[in-house]
Amino acid sequence: MIGQLRARRAAGVILRMIQKGKIAGRAVLMAGAPGTGKTAIAMAMAQELGDDVPFTSIAASEVFSLEMSKTEALTQVFRKSIGIRIKEETELIEGEVVEVIIDRSVSGVGSKTGKLTLKTTDMETVYDLGVKMIDSLNKEKVVAGDVIQIDKSTGRITKLGRSFLRARDFDATGSDVIFIIYNYIFFYTNFDFLRDKFVQCPEGELQTRKELVHTVSLHEIDVINSRQQGFLALFSGDTGEIKPEVREQINQKVSEWREEGKATIVPGVLFIDEIHMLDMECYSFLNRALEDVMAPVVIMASNRGMSTIRGTGNIKSPHGMPIDLLDRLSIISTTPYSTSEMKEILKIRAVEEEVNIDGDALDILTKVASETSLRYAINLISTSYLISQRRKSSVVEVGDIKKVYSLFLDEKRSVQYLKEFQDQYLYNTQTPDQPGMEVEST
Ligand SMILES: Nc1ncnc2c1ncn2[C@@H]1O[C@H](COP(=O)(O)OP(=O)(O)OP(=O)(O)O)[C@@H](O)[C@H]1O
Ligand SMILES: [Mg+2]
Repeated sequence: MIGQLRARRAAGVILRMIQKGKIAGRAVLMAGAPGTGKTAIAMAMAQELGDDVPFTSIAASEVFSLEMSKTEALTQVFRKSIGIRIKEETELIEGEVVEVIIDRSVSGVGSKTGKLTLKTTDMETVYDLGVKMIDSLNKEKVVAGDVIQIDKSTGRITKLGRSFLRARDFDATGSDVIFIIYNYIFFYTNFDFLRDKFVQCPEGELQTRKELVHTVSLHEIDVINSRQQGFLALFSGDTGEIKPEVREQINQKVSEWREEGKATIVPGVLFIDEIHMLDMECYSFLNRALEDVMAPVVIMASNRGMSTIRGTGNIKSPHGMPIDLLDRLSIISTTPYSTSEMKEILKIRAVEEEVNIDGDALDILTKVASETSLRYAINLISTSYLISQRRKSSVVEVGDIKKVYSLFLDEKRSVQYLKEFQDQYLYNTQTPDQPGMEVEST
């Protein structure tokens, strides 16, 4: 990212506090003019968070949906942003396959049975196989010499690799050097016959216990446990409203897990863009929700100055948010870019969009950005590229920028145009005594 140093430093401080788990329930507002990088900074923060910390991003307007109430929609995004890190001990069987024997009934139909012999360096055991296990062994194409892992509770089979002991059968030297070389070749080639990695035959007992740690969001637990939805709803995303009783039970369960040391809470981040689109009811919900013991960090962004709070009639407030909520926010402000910063940003965008722009054209584009807006100029990059391609050139030149500048209006010119030709539009309400476009000034 370019410039915006103060805001980025502030974001960095917030990020470190989030990672240390120190500021759950706190909220941050990013305030600044359009196109000053508020959304960009929030997204950059999300990338730094790591896989384990949940991050949810919405535009405030998404809260207003027909499927659920505003508060339900907000509750869901809050709970999506709180992770529960669960420790689970699972029992595994891990060993090298000595042989797999599958007996098919004479007719070819009916149930199959079979036997699986597994060994470690210290022991060997024969297991009876059911139909389900036979199917999964077939699916994983397990053969003698594979090292496999079976999850005892789910029956899931994972192939860990080919046993190196087997490989050594064919190798007179039998040294560990060969082991390393095999794996080296495995990583650096795509040869089919080397598709399986070589691993050592497991040592000790066939049965082992392993501690698995995984993080799920509170919302995922809600959905899985709500009877009408079931876990399939997680894939369709069609979760509907979740009953408060379900949530209460889940909260209860989670706090039990915490006491037993089975789970810890990972407060994540909820990003609400265009926060001024929320109304008074939502703001009051936010105020309360931030006080909950299980609250995420909420980052908001707004480009509004003094404006009406939605749902209040005509109460004006900074950023269009109620003062009591504003009071509990840490506010990061983004400042307009200098010309040279704009140029750098445009350059980066061009590279990202794989557009080649020559120096003069970039200068003109920067000038356009400073006179209109950065957003407008960014939009011209791809369109001017299309124009340059029509000329069969792979480089965008000054002429292409001029052309798209005349084809697409920026906001100022569009307003100008409207003013000049207003009587030709439908629904024109701008009469001398009733200023239509300036709603704010009534
Ligand atoms: N410092 C920066 N470095 C690189 N690119 C940037 C920077 N700031 C903004 N941009 C780019 O400029 C464009 C506009 O930025 P962004 O969408 O973050 O603005 P915003 O502050 O969220 O505006 P709005 O208030 O209109 O939502 C984006 O394409 C973004 O990638
Ligand atoms: Mg934005």
